[in-house]
Amino acid sequence: MPQALLYKAALPGLGAVPLPPPPPLPPLRPALSESARHTCRAAAAHQSLSHSTNEMLSLDPSGPEWDCPLGSKDLEEEGPWGGDSGLPPTGCFPGSWRQDVGLDYKGSPEGAEARAWTVYYYSLLQSCLQQAGLPETQDRSQVPCTGCPGAEVTLCVLGSPSTFLPVLLEGGVQSPGNMLLCLSPAWLMKVPAPGQPGEAALLVSKAVSFHPGGLTFLDDFVPPRRATYFLAGLGLGPGRGREAAELARDLTCPTGASAELARLLEDRLLTRQLLAQQGCVAVPATLAFTYKPLGLLLGGDASPGLRLVELSGKEGQEMLVKEEVETFLHSEALGDVLQVAVKLSGWRWRGRQAFRLYSRAELGTVVDTVLALLEKLEEEESVLVEAVYPPVRLPCSDGPALGPGLAVRICAVVCRTQGDRPLLSKVVCGVGRGDRPVRHHNSLPRTLEGALAQCGLGDAAQVAAVRQRVKAAAEAALGAVLALEAGLSAEQRGGRRAHTDFLGVDFALTAAGGALTPVALELNSGLCLEACGALEGLWAAPRLGPAADDAAAAPLVETMLRRSARCLMEGKHLLVVGAGGVSKKFVWEAARDYGLQLHLVESDPNHFASQLVQTFIHFDMTEHQRDEENARLLAELVRARGLKLDGCFSYWDDCLVLTALLCQELGLPCCPPAAMRLAKHKSRTQLHLLCHHGPPWPAPSLHAVPCCPLESEADVERAVHQVPLPGVMKLEFGAGAVGTRLVKDAPQCYEHFSQITRDLQGEADHPGIGLGWGNAMLLMEFVEGTEHDVDLVLFGGRLLAAFVSDNGPTRLPGFTETAACMPTGLAPEQEVQMVQAAFRCCLGCGLLDGVFNVELKLTGAGPRLIEINPRMGGFYLRDWILELYGVDLLLAAAMVACGLRPALPTHPRARGHLVGVMCLVSQHLQALSSTASREALQALHDRGVLRLNLLEEALVPGKYEEPYCSVACAGPSPTEARLRLLGLCQGLGIDGPNYPVAHFLSHFK
Ligand SMILES: Nc1ncnc2c1ncn2[C@@H]1O[C@H](COP(=O)(O)OP(=O)(O)O)[C@@H](O)[C@H]1O
Ligand SMILES: [Mg+2]
Repeated sequence: MPQALLYKAALPGLGAVPLPPPPPLPPLRPALSESARHTCRAAAAHQSLSHSTNEMLSLDPSGPEWDCPLGSKDLEEEGPWGGDSGLPPTGCFPGSWRQDVGLDYKGSPEGAEARAWTVYYYSLLQSCLQQAGLPETQDRSQVPCTGCPGAEVTLCVLGSPSTFLPVLLEGGVQSPGNMLLCLSPAWLMKVPAPGQPGEAALLVSKAVSFHPGGLTFLDDFVPPRRATYFLAGLGLGPGRGREAAELARDLTCPTGASAELARLLEDRLLTRQLLAQQGCVAVPATLAFTYKPLGLLLGGDASPGLRLVELSGKEGQEMLVKEEVETFLHSEALGDVLQVAVKLSGWRWRGRQAFRLYSRAELGTVVDTVLALLEKLEEEESVLVEAVYPPVRLPCSDGPALGPGLAVRICAVVCRTQGDRPLLSKVVCGVGRGDRPVRHHNSLPRTLEGALAQCGLGDAAQVAAVRQRVKAAAEAALGAVLALEAGLSAEQRGGRRAHTDFLGVDFALTAAGGALTPVALELNSGLCLEACGALEGLWAAPRLGPAADDAAAAPLVETMLRRSARCLMEGKHLLVVGAGGVSKKFVWEAARDYGLQLHLVESDPNHFASQLVQTFIHFDMTEHQRDEENARLLAELVRARGLKLDGCFSYWDDCLVLTALLCQELGLPCCPPAAMRLAKHKSRTQLHLLCHHGPPWPAPSLHAVPCCPLESEADVERAVHQVPLPGVMKLEFGAGAVGTRLVKDAPQCYEHFSQITRDLQGEADHPGIGLGWGNAMLLMEFVEGTEHDVDLVLFGGRLLAAFVSDNGPTRLPGFTETAACMPTGLAPEQEVQMVQAAFRCCLGCGLLDGVFNVELKLTGAGPRLIEINPRMGGFYLRDWILELYGVDLLLAAAMVACGLRPALPTHPRARGHLVGVMCLVSQHLQALSSTASREALQALHDRGVLRLNLLEEALVPGKYEEPYCSVACAGPSPTEARLRLLGLCQGLGIDGPNYPVAHFLSHFK
């Protein structure tokens, strides 16, 4: 073995990577075009270019001003978005596609120059589609689309097709027809928003719409569509960037980019300081000089490895600069670095990637360069001197490396997800010569595995460690940016709704300090996104081999949809029927967050929610025999109060039939009352579905379970001869498993029937479990198998989303729920069988619109229906689904109630696993009043140790018991979540001989 040195990892978590000591770098050759070198000379007029052999001016050929040198003078005249004139390059797209397409929007024909750019971007789009093996865009603009303005998701992108292609294609899959690409600012229009002074709505008159399979159409919209999300590419070439920035400013709809935020993110010093403050992000050691720092910067040495020197004026700074540079060049912060780079920082310098490289020994020339550049500075700009780490040098399998070796550049795309949490969505690498910077446009897109293997690093564990480090750093970077934004005013952000939804973070992979370390260089959203698209495109045409893994843009599109849903629902007036108990406390908070105007009908005049809504209508709804009459009375009350409702819905079992009747009275969208009645009546549901034999097949009858309704002793006598025992006896209209019991033989059947008839007669005996409909029972065959919940969102009979969770073994004989796990551990085929079964059962009952919770058991012969709850799932389900998938069933239900198609991603992916147990007063009274008190559990919840869902207010034991709370733990795998929960339950005294948590969780392995 030639190398005897084992380099130690400098950062925690990254295993030591054996590296040979870095050899001295070969002399660098100037990698410049003649003209670039010439302008460089002009810019640094008083310097001589020949002072160093190690000097190199490096430029990113990607930017439009790629040969603009360090400190060019024209910059100031041009402004940040490029000049106002200039024609696009011509003849750059090989390929054949129709030229006679309707690119002019009728209302606003463009000037010749603008038109030339529109044609250019259209051709670029066709070229991208062609390379991806996708069909040419079809022009349907002759027949305008009418659509339903204000009622549909409209995701609008104004930008370069090649940058945004991955987002556009993913949007076409997740929200078909609603992802729109505008190729010209003239296709968009800002109109003042009534009621929101200073803000405007954005209307789309023309766009290329994206559909599944990469199908695209050129569409005109009459009337124009109203954007529910806007993403502007700000580097669109002469003049257009500025127009895009103007369009994005102060919109009523959410925006994912603004010129104001872009300026901040393009400030190298600011972003470097943000990153340096994150413990897990390595940044190059940096010395910065400025006259007047950006207000958001921290002064002095506030961030590790980053020194900010504030100069008092332009004159007489030579001594101070020399001292600081000297200290920096000799400082330990530079480690074994041999070179430093001198760069400019500030948004005016965006796209001008020019910098100079110097040997660390060249104090005089570094100082001269800094002083020369200082003259160019305006307020809030700075000159940076930073460490340049040598590229990774791994032992070559076939002898010592001869050339300059290879450098790896890593770019990571990270997206803002539910709850402002950053999530890494893709890593793309570039590999290039070690003696010049690797940039997006001068290297091929590679996977991390491929790039590292190229450099001789094939060990899977090491690659995983690098990936983990990149993930942590990129997510921390976005986290820091979001935290920064949270402290900015709407004006500073460019609008009330302007937020950064994704970020590209560029890293150099270095062997700094002997350890393989990704060092964060800059934030570069557009280029990173484009690189992801290029990597995904590798598998696209022709479709060879395996598809790329998850789309880089998937979480971004999910965020666009989630923000669109809020935009569509803000200010909607909804009538909620039945407030529900403490378990539904989240409703009022969520409504405020979403800007919903809630009006509440509730039987309890003193309900706490009466204070939290716009209008409170006290109305006794408990007698369900009177549902029809009550619906009429309520409709009159609503009309008398002059409420202008957009929708009416309920999530409370007792109120579902009444709500359907009320909607009918008020002419609001809802499921037919007959369907609700059918679903609420357990034996009728099963007997109805049993008759549904198809076609189409498979039919719902396959999932129904034989049962007998029981209203009298005589019914019980008949039933025990019809239903094979053991069976399950339960309340027809019950909830929360109250009154449910496993019955093994005829005597047990009689006994349970008479006990329930005696104990649970009316609403007052156990409020809220459906006794207002009576206490009729049913006897049902016992279904063997594992139990699962499927939570569905249906719109117009179409399945928009489904979430499957698993239940642990119930406690017999009463079937109380013990434990649950999400996402399901079922094999994918079983999972889709469950979803389809639940979907078919809903359709079979006529439930076509809404959010439904279907309970099923999976038997050897397939899924069997336990019951349909024609409402949002109870207990912890809404919380868990929101936490894991970023989908809010409450908002989805509210949208359906308003007749709006919920804006949901087609394939939401879970971000981890949750495993939970129920706590019962009968089992845990002692723990719940000491170690696991409500306050103690809440404190653990707030610290992120567990997830608490409180289901009951008071610690009162009862014969027919419902769970008091659910306690859950999260983890990257079900096993980890389960073990965490088990440990917690043991510590808190929730686990015990009569409540064996390990047994309840044993299903989730
Ligand atoms: N036919 C059955 N076979 C097996 N278990 C059943 C059956 N019916 C109900 N159960 C069990 O009883 C629990 C409660 O029954 P369910 O019909 O869901 O009533 P509720 O409306 O009270 O939730 C179910 O979650 C399931 O564990
Ligand atoms: Mg149930």
